[in-house]
Amino acid sequence: MMVGQFPVKQLSQFATPYYYYDMDVLRETLQVMRSESQDSNWHVHYAIKACATDAILKTIAASGVGADCVSGGEVRAAINAGFPADKIVFAGVAKMDSEIQYALEQGILCFNVESTEELAVISQLAGNMGTRARVCLRVNPNVDAHTHAKITTGLSENKFGIPLRFLADAVRLCYRLPNVVFLGLHFHIGSQITDMQPFEQLAQKINQLVTDVEQLTCIDEFGNNVQAVVTHINVGGGLGILYEHPNHFPIPNFKAYFATWRNGISLRPNQHLHFELGRSIVAQCGNLITRVLYVKHGENKQFAIVDAGMTDLIRPALYGAFHRVENLTHPDDEEQLYDIVGPICESSDVFVQGYKIAAVQRGDILAMRSAGAYGEIMASQYNLRRLPGHVISDDVQ
Ligand code: LLP
Repeated sequence: MMVGQFPVKQLSQFATPYYYYDMDVLRETLQVMRSESQDSNWHVHYAIKACATDAILKTIAASGVGADCVSGGEVRAAINAGFPADKIVFAGVAKMDSEIQYALEQGILCFNVESTEELAVISQLAGNMGTRARVCLRVNPNVDAHTHAKITTGLSENKFGIPLRFLADAVRLCYRLPNVVFLGLHFHIGSQITDMQPFEQLAQKINQLVTDVEQLTCIDEFGNNVQAVVTHINVGGGLGILYEHPNHFPIPNFKAYFATWRNGISLRPNQHLHFELGRSIVAQCGNLITRVLYVKHGENKQFAIVDAGMTDLIRPALYGAFHRVENLTHPDDEEQLYDIVGPICESSDVFVQGYKIAAVQRGDILAMRSAGAYGEIMASQYNLRRLPGHVISDDVQ
């Protein structure tokens, strides 16, 4: 795999800005991810929210993994791309009735339910359709992911999941409701986590919670006493990537990540472990290709003004995220310092400040690296711009 090699001549011919996806990087990532997660009863689901570009979805579906969705639109995209319905899980704090009905019609594996209120609605809608919905309860475990505040989800102050003190009630409700089938528990503590310690902590918490839940005696729809059984444990996603080093470490540390779960979770033979990985699968295969419009001299700095803006890649503006930038047209020119900024009428439309890059000229094309996850999918039309679009490497060579 030649990482960081771009077919510059061909790429210069497309109208910028656009996303360029290197499918060799994606295929290699999938291959490593799959080989590190071969344990029996383990199931990886790709978090569609990270990137839903057609060719990407189809390649991931063909590799045999399932899909993690957070809207009816994502469930539809997953089905269209070839993910089997029985490998689709559906989370989200505010699922609409129409989305729940659609997912039930498709026969998805499981709803990750975020409140008792939602549980009642799902049971009723399933009842109206003469079916039963399989559910996992999304638990807010109050584990700190030690990542950016805006992508932390597992603290009690976050809106996600069922608070620990209501979990027993929610499990009992699952057994009492006639049209839901309780499968188990779901978690997701945050994103871009590169230190394994929060996952270790989460694993311990999960073991304890599974034991606690299985001690609950519930009353089923017919008034019989039944013991709660957890057959599915979903640990969510969150594995981070190295934004600073897309060329040296293009493949995330799947080995350490899966080893953490192998060592951390006690799994009985009748239990299934699910993962929902987004960023780690697609981030490094995507690049935002942009053209330099102007090199402008400020009072004491110079700006490289490019044709991509925060509308095309919002991560730097929204999270202060770093994306490496490379000059593809003149890679060997002497380096200079620039603030690389976009054309949007917002002061936060800045990609990187005081950044050293091979001297740029008007017309040069630049690659913003590691942009495959939460890049194209988060694009907007603010300032009435056209959406960025994309080029797939397999169509170029
Ligand atoms: N499962 C659930 C329930 C999630 O909420 C998420 C991401 C994932 C799985 C996938 O997480 P990943 O493996 O990608 O970390 N836009 C932000 C990231 C938001 C993540 C939202 N949830 C960013 O650009 O950094």
